[in-house]
Amino acid sequence: MKRHHLPAPPLPAGRPLLVVTGFMGTGKTTSGAEASAMLRLPFVDLDEVVARRAGRSIPEIFGGEGEAAFRTLERAAVADAARLSGTVIATGGGAVLDEAGFAGLSRNAAVVVLTATADELARRLAGKGGRPLIDAADPGRLAALLDERSDAYARAGEAVDTTGRTTADVAAVLAARFRERVPGGAVRIDVAGPHGPYPVLVGAATLRTAGEEVRAALPDAELAVVVSDAAVGSGAAAQVAASLSDTGMRVERASVPAGEAGKSLGVVDDVWRRFVELGVDRTSAVVAVGGGAALDTAGFAAATFARGVPLVNVPTTLLAMADASLGGKTAIDHGGAKNSVGAFHHPRLVLADPDALASLPGRDLRAGLAEVVKMAATASPLALDVLEAMPLDADGIPADLAWIVEQAVRMKAAYVAEDAADLGLRHTLNLGHTVAHGIEGASAYAVPHGEAVAIGLLAETRFGESVAVTPEGTASRLEALLTRLGLPIAPPAGVDARAIAAAMGADKKRRAGRTVVVVPAPGGAELLEDVDPAAVLSFLPSEVRT
Ligand SMILES: NC(=O)c1ccc[n+]([C@@H]2O[C@H](COP(=O)([O-])OP(=O)(O)OC[C@H]3O[C@@H](n4cnc5c(N)ncnc54)[C@H](O)[C@@H]3O)[C@@H](O)[C@H]2O)c1
Repeated sequence: MKRHHLPAPPLPAGRPLLVVTGFMGTGKTTSGAEASAMLRLPFVDLDEVVARRAGRSIPEIFGGEGEAAFRTLERAAVADAARLSGTVIATGGGAVLDEAGFAGLSRNAAVVVLTATADELARRLAGKGGRPLIDAADPGRLAALLDERSDAYARAGEAVDTTGRTTADVAAVLAARFRERVPGGAVRIDVAGPHGPYPVLVGAATLRTAGEEVRAALPDAELAVVVSDAAVGSGAAAQVAASLSDTGMRVERASVPAGEAGKSLGVVDDVWRRFVELGVDRTSAVVAVGGGAALDTAGFAAATFARGVPLVNVPTTLLAMADASLGGKTAIDHGGAKNSVGAFHHPRLVLADPDALASLPGRDLRAGLAEVVKMAATASPLALDVLEAMPLDADGIPADLAWIVEQAVRMKAAYVAEDAADLGLRHTLNLGHTVAHGIEGASAYAVPHGEAVAIGLLAETRFGESVAVTPEGTASRLEALLTRLGLPIAPPAGVDARAIAAAMGADKKRRAGRTVVVVPAPGGAELLEDVDPAAVLSFLPSEVRT
């Protein structure tokens, strides 16, 4: 079995972080959590992350392995936090001492250093356990530690004195600091493309201003053809068409059948004919509105008509926002094979409005979540922590879809930037897909792609653990998260391992007849070549194996 390391790439900036740091007892965790509620952003406490990862409390880590071991764990947590965006992060009191690590965390962040007078800190910390560096019997130690760290705190960010203030007061100041730093409206994430970077705008109400954004991205376009999935024709597509009309552009419409049925040569032929009728040329804009299937079809039509017409993608499913709308792949299904005819054609602009997801059935939404979990498993470990803690609505859907879309776009954009032609690092995105494609084939596509990815992600991760590439415990954690999100972890009865193995044999990801599998690994993923499919499939949950 050959192994290739696929390192997690640097992620493009999204919304800034709000980083709350300061000496122990200044209220970083409490005020940070309260500020996150005010800002409606997720909250991560890095001391808690360290303790959870180590499986023991911080005093236990200090007592057992010493401060250096704690600092190593803390450095890793800080580095992972720096990969998030739009999140409130409370650090441990000593995180500022690692200047390089803290600089990484601060790069795109509003940093607030909470302070308090020595007397107030002594009062707050009196009788409280769990502070391994402070000895209650030695009051001089607190003053000495404060003194030792004062320079590092002064360099770290703007100070906010908490002496005599309630945590709610302090939280309001933190929230105000963040709002000063972060402009309202959509977040812009740039994705590398052949004509330079193109923007993905993620934010509520983005569709209402679609016209202005298309105008800005394609100033010469006078004709816009909105090609939409029939399921979104009267909703998102109508909204986009109205906004385009408001800018004075000539706006025409075309429709493709909903879902996978639209990804056919016949449908593309219809779209090409409509383009001829409307006088589309290379100065026009094709605005694709819908799920991944509609974007693939409209994108392929735009890629091939007149040797390429500028494309704007307006994804309306989570999967399309997180994945299909950016990266330049367009395709139709042909001769019974999925995505077998296609072209690379990057959009000039992507508008991802989480409000468009309101009408999406829960099952389709969950399918997108599987792809987000898959990317986080290799590119943003702390995003998994946030998803584990994110409140769910009455239908079991995570509350903060805008945050999820933002992280997903940043992760996908990073792989596209590193590997535009899909020849190397982007293979990381195939995690879970070797088994998933087998399940889709064996079920004659009755198992939706995202559900198959959830099942494949788990089986492939368990396989990774069995060959000592994936850290132990990764699979059980993913299993709990996928289950929490309402995703299946086993194929349905009747889709057995033998049929899955046969379908895996036809997978286009095979290299020279050998099965390849991507598994999570420290610092990213590993591509394992020449893998025995039966060995991977032995990790499908036993109740459905035959
Ligand atoms: N090009 C790429 O890089 C890429 C990446 C991943 C997947 N894909 C492709 O994407 C397709 C899957 O995409 P998908 O999961 O978005 O499925 P989909 O496009 O089939 O959409 C799922 C269903 O939801 C409906 N729908 C879409 N938006 C809606 C909304 N807002 N409200 C209500 N209904 C809505 C659609 O009509 C469809 O019935 C596959 O064909 C896959 O091959 C392409």
